[in-house]
Amino acid sequence: MPLTVLGIESSCDDTAAAIVRDVEGQTPQILSNVVMGQGALHAAYGGVVPEIAARAHAEKLDLVVEAALAEAGLELRALDGIAVTSGPGLIGGVLAGVMLARGLAAATGLPLMGVNHLAGHALTPRLTDGLAFPYLMLLVSGGHCQFLVVRGVDDYVRLGGTIDDAPGEAFDKVARLLALPQPGGPSVEATAATGDPARFSLPRPLLDRPGCDLSFSGLKTAVLRARDALVAAHAGLPRADRADLCASFQAAVTDVLAEKARRALATYMALAPAQPAFAVAGGVAANQTLRAALEGVAAQAGARFVAPPLALCTDNAAMIAWAGIERFRAGVPRDADLVARPRWPL
Ligand code: KG4
Ligand code: ZN
Repeated sequence: MPLTVLGIESSCDDTAAAIVRDVEGQTPQILSNVVMGQGALHAAYGGVVPEIAARAHAEKLDLVVEAALAEAGLELRALDGIAVTSGPGLIGGVLAGVMLARGLAAATGLPLMGVNHLAGHALTPRLTDGLAFPYLMLLVSGGHCQFLVVRGVDDYVRLGGTIDDAPGEAFDKVARLLALPQPGGPSVEATAATGDPARFSLPRPLLDRPGCDLSFSGLKTAVLRARDALVAAHAGLPRADRADLCASFQAAVTDVLAEKARRALATYMALAPAQPAFAVAGGVAANQTLRAALEGVAAQAGARFVAPPLALCTDNAAMIAWAGIERFRAGVPRDADLVARPRWPL
């Protein structure tokens, strides 16, 4: 049976709506994918302010849903269902999305489905590349960092994750320390391009410990110390030193993630998957140095490497519509998981 589903996402600082159509046996189609970011609203505060985010979501949700319908050329009643992020995330935004979705479902009689935001990210490689279960997934963004074996629509095994900061957060903080623009990932990567990754010997946290857990806060502190030493020696931060420091930091993050990916792949490959695959998602997966290293690790293990297009790796509602389709198809009852939850591990 073909399914056309509206997805709604408002759990962090992006207000998003999208429509995905899935016809069994065919490649699913993204009919529209509208994302309204709130970056500018929070820029002055150095981070996402929950109250500002909640108000902006409440104001913009109607608009993004209208835009998604218009872009797809569909009326709400032509759809087969609605899926909404019901957690984890900032509770004000999640509630705004769930309330809107409930209203739309009540007005139309369409079935409604709550979706875990992380499941949205984790199921995206099936939307973009048709991956078969089980596959290994690395989520790396400003808010997440974890290795998951995705065994089924609602079946995840977490192999490890960060015990403090997410890597994107570390990139953003390092950019702030070095007076580079936000978001830090792209500016640190650009600055690192001309730097020497071997110039500063920064720590590789938790590599000496078994397992797939990661830590990034010590690395950030090490960058702070190196910066202070440079500033003290030169009464400022010379451009070449800044490039070396960025390159050294990026190399440390890459080394740690690549080694933990090697271990996660070993655990995953022991399950003898029929079509082994390693997928990455999240904004940090845009980093070319990291991506090349992870690709190499996947090739060594004999797994296919999959990186969905960036617009589907970062927060969006197409992944929520898709996760809704997967859950409807798996027989999860309508109106499941509609309680808004700030915390909701997979
Ligand atoms: O997935 P995302 O858009 O949002 C969430 O965090 O949920 O990820 C944003 C994060 C930011 O911290 C940003 O600095 C980081 O991804 N990022 C990068 C790169 N592009 C974005 N980090 C490293 N290298 C990049 N090229
Ligand atoms: Zn996310």
